Amino acid sequence: MAEGTPAESKTRPVDTRFAVAVASGKGGVGKSTVTVNLALAMASRGLRVGLLDADIYGPNVPLMLGIDQSTALVKDGRIQPVSAHGIQVMSVGFIAPAGKALIWRGPLANKLIEQFLTEVDWGELDLFLIDLPPGTGDVPLSIIQKSALNGGIIVTTPQEASIADVRKMIDMFQTTDTRILGTVENMKFITCPHCQRKIELYPGAGGAESLGTEVLMELPFITELSQKNAEGLPFFMTNPESDISRRFSNLADAIWRELA
Ligand SMILES: Nc1ncnc2c1ncn2[C@@H]1O[C@H](COP(=O)(O)OP(=O)(O)O)[C@@H](O)[C@H]1O
Ligand SMILES: [Mg+2]
Repeated sequence: MAEGTPAESKTRPVDTRFAVAVASGKGGVGKSTVTVNLALAMASRGLRVGLLDADIYGPNVPLMLGIDQSTALVKDGRIQPVSAHGIQVMSVGFIAPAGKALIWRGPLANKLIEQFLTEVDWGELDLFLIDLPPGTGDVPLSIIQKSALNGGIIVTTPQEASIADVRKMIDMFQTTDTRILGTVENMKFITCPHCQRKIELYPGAGGAESLGTEVLMELPFITELSQKNAEGLPFFMTNPESDISRRFSNLADAIWRELA
């Protein structure tokens, strides 16, 4: 990988060369799936990757990575990230009791996020990836402001309503002077298992490219991907030779090129 220096001059709470947030307008569009597999693809390039699962509404990164831990460990006053498949992971899910819906009010959520940025023993990282809560509310906004990002990625599905969301996400990144690296269009099509024909899931819907953002990756709907997610077996690790994993490798390379 090419050498590069962080473009940001703002002081960053985490010791990392680059910090990137993954955002989406709403939940369920594949934000965590993209973040997790992108993190693994980056790590497979020999990069030191930290992943903060900051989605206070649905912290499912530990589940996807097969991390069976519900509490964060503290050593010498520092919160210890969990190491999984070569990446360092911290999640709201290590604080919130499993199965219990926690109501994070603004100040509480902000305090927690602050701690995750400043009190976690991340060590020295090449890339710090943040799985943001969906939407443009106070919490994602405050995370973006606090983490001195080098860029943001927007995950969306190709539906008209999602395109309106993308517009809002673009606004949020622009308001915070965060460079938009591009969008990932998830669940774009499905391949018929019988005749192998590609079926567009939302035909005719305007794509994210109509908003002037670069489409970094298109991801089809793959039943096996959601199955692997549910089993805690990250797709990039279990199916490294698949077309999907190749797409994630290409995404990692494209983003790293942009950053470095
Ligand atoms: N390309 C895909 N093909 C099949 N299932 C997917 C795909 N992307 C995401 N999923 C599934 O859709 C659900 C929502 O994805 P997730 O990554 O948790 O979204 P978000 O983080 O935006 O809420 C999960 O069950 C996940 O396994
Ligand atoms: Mg999620």
